[in-house]
Amino acid sequence: MVMQINDFANKIICGDTLEILRKIPPDSIELGITSPPYNKGEKQKGWLVKNVKYDKYSDKKSEDEYRQNQIDVLNEIFRITKEGGSFFYNHKNRWEKGIMHHPLQWLMKTKWTIKQEIVWDRTIAANIRGWRFWQIDEKIYWLYKPKGNNKIGDELEARHAMLSSVWRFPPERNNGHPAPFPIVLPARIIFSILNKKKGIVLDPYAGSGTTCVAAKLLGCDYLGIDISEAYCKMAKNRLSYSEKDRHKLEEELKKHSVSKTFSDRKMKGEHTGKYRKTGQTKPNTIVNQ
Ligand SMILES: C[S@@+](CC[C@H](N)C(=O)[O-])C[C@H]1O[C@@H](n2cnc3c(N)ncnc32)[C@H](O)[C@@H]1O
Repeated sequence: MVMQINDFANKIICGDTLEILRKIPPDSIELGITSPPYNKGEKQKGWLVKNVKYDKYSDKKSEDEYRQNQIDVLNEIFRITKEGGSFFYNHKNRWEKGIMHHPLQWLMKTKWTIKQEIVWDRTIAANIRGWRFWQIDEKIYWLYKPKGNNKIGDELEARHAMLSSVWRFPPERNNGHPAPFPIVLPARIIFSILNKKKGIVLDPYAGSGTTCVAAKLLGCDYLGIDISEAYCKMAKNRLSYSEKDRHKLEEELKKHSVSKTFSDRKMKGEHTGKYRKTGQTKPNTIVNQ
């Protein structure tokens, strides 16, 4: 039987993401957001920070196998995404025996156009050892499926585009999952990209369902996939009381505002080159974030 996208909408599906993605018809979803397992191994590597250990998934593949799997997953997501659609892929740099593994090493082998690299300042160090400066950031890659030959895509509305490419969100703590998103992260993406339009938001490694909860609160449809029955149950449970998280989301939405756009400033001959944070309200200040 041929499956339609409506068969997948507003569901949390338990299973291997690649197998499930292959069943979804092409050009079905508007937007996706995810944080895959990072292939970090499961050994205790630091004395202050515990390594993440998932239910039902061992985060320890050979590097080649891991990268090929990520390329296959990302290309399946490309196939099921509509032209002009986006996928936000959170990952970080890792080191194995002193060699750095960088996500661009496999992202550049996928079909996606890489639109932007966003720095997620998590405000805490993931590994506290003195071999390098404290690594407190992860990256979020904005991947784009071109509309025909147009690799640039539509402009963001000014109120979203005035947020910077450095996002400062501490990790979520009140969650039974070992590596959840803070809900403001998917909320920022969905609100900026869909901008109150409806659409299906996918998270192929949904974990505790944070992306799906943000999508639901913003009036979108969602599809979450995870290999662990326990996490799928956790996600479904969270979705049933999603209103509990609305106040966090509202705080994020307030940041999507702008007092004057660059073109307003340019027209009035005002300064356009400086970026300041909210609260620093000198004249000619861009009020944002
Ligand atoms: C970093 S966590 C995602 C957490 C999520 N962003 C949240 O807010 O809770 C990665 C998830 O991928 C799931 N996973 C690992 N391998 C998978 C696979 N082959 N198919 C589907 N899910 C998988 C794990 O169970 C884990 O929940």
